[in-house]
Amino acid sequence: MDELRNTYIERIAKAADEAALEDVRLQALGKKGEISLKMRELGRMDPEERKTAGPALNALKDEINSAIAARKVALEDSALDERLKTEWLDVTLPARERRQGTIHPVSQVTEEVTAIFADMGFAVAEGPRIESDWYNFDALNIPGHHPARAEMDTFYMHREEGDARPPFVLRTHTSPVQIRSMEAQGAPIRIICPGGVYRADYDQTHTPMFHQVEGLAIDRDISMANLKWVLEEFFSAYFGTSVKTRFRASHFPFTEPSAEVDIQCSWQDGTVKVGEGDDWLEVLGSGMVHPHVLRSGGIDPDEWQGFAFGMGIDRIAMLKYGIPDLRAFFDSDLRWLRHYGFSALDVPTIRGGLSR
Ligand code: DAH
Repeated sequence: MDELRNTYIERIAKAADEAALEDVRLQALGKKGEISLKMRELGRMDPEERKTAGPALNALKDEINSAIAARKVALEDSALDERLKTEWLDVTLPARERRQGTIHPVSQVTEEVTAIFADMGFAVAEGPRIESDWYNFDALNIPGHHPARAEMDTFYMHREEGDARPPFVLRTHTSPVQIRSMEAQGAPIRIICPGGVYRADYDQTHTPMFHQVEGLAIDRDISMANLKWVLEEFFSAYFGTSVKTRFRASHFPFTEPSAEVDIQCSWQDGTVKVGEGDDWLEVLGSGMVHPHVLRSGGIDPDEWQGFAFGMGIDRIAMLKYGIPDLRAFFDSDLRWLRHYGFSALDVPTIRGGLSR
């Protein structure tokens, strides 16, 4: 019995992993294990012999079982120790540096403009930047021979010879979204349409791509007075100070009558301040939507009328945030972006400021 015990205790101690340990268990206590066979022999013993052999075998079985359990725990512990030695992480190391981007002034101002007009009940509408010449010109009462068509410095999309499709352009203004919105929703309408537009022009105040926001309000009794109130309300909220406007008679093919709108400003040492002084700065074109334009959009001009306006987003961004050169807007110079860009937490408000 002692020999048996010593053999298995030693084998258990030597088992190098769980599989080897299981082998040892089967050798001792499996169906055909050495100890199991011995226990089966008990039945053939005489009672006197059995009295001592029985309890001794049972004790041996228990001892081996607990030796196996203890060895199993020891093996698991050392496997874990081994893993901990190789897989480690220094949580006291400083984190890797992550560069933070900024919100581009055009995006920021678009959000500000949207928030202010949304507060006055205007929804946002969008249209494609590649536009048919019908939406960009004809539907807006600019026929083929009209001088405005030439003045727009239009980029035309390339067409193979024999291509029967109508000419497409990079939209020269956001006004075609007026037509698309009229078609899509009918009257009444109250929308603004911000977005990129294109013209072949490049100097300190012109880039071949820039941004406009179009406004359109159509209802049964809309007048120029509503237009003036909406614009003054907008500029005062946007600049965070009461801003007067001046309407100058002008001409656009898509409005009748038409007005160019100036905002009150002062010039001091070459910098402009909006909302004070007695100078004027032109910021947008506007007017009452021309009956031809309403008809192009499927709206009956005898029943409905409305105002429209178009304004440069980049331009009002420059005015509010004192940015001198338009071209730098689109150079993607990181130094410029870090200087004039906004933090993601500068959420625009309708009070002209930023909620920090
Ligand atoms: N589309 C004009 C432009 O790009 C701006 C404009 C003027 C838009 C008068 C309008 C408007 O809606 O009524 O210069």
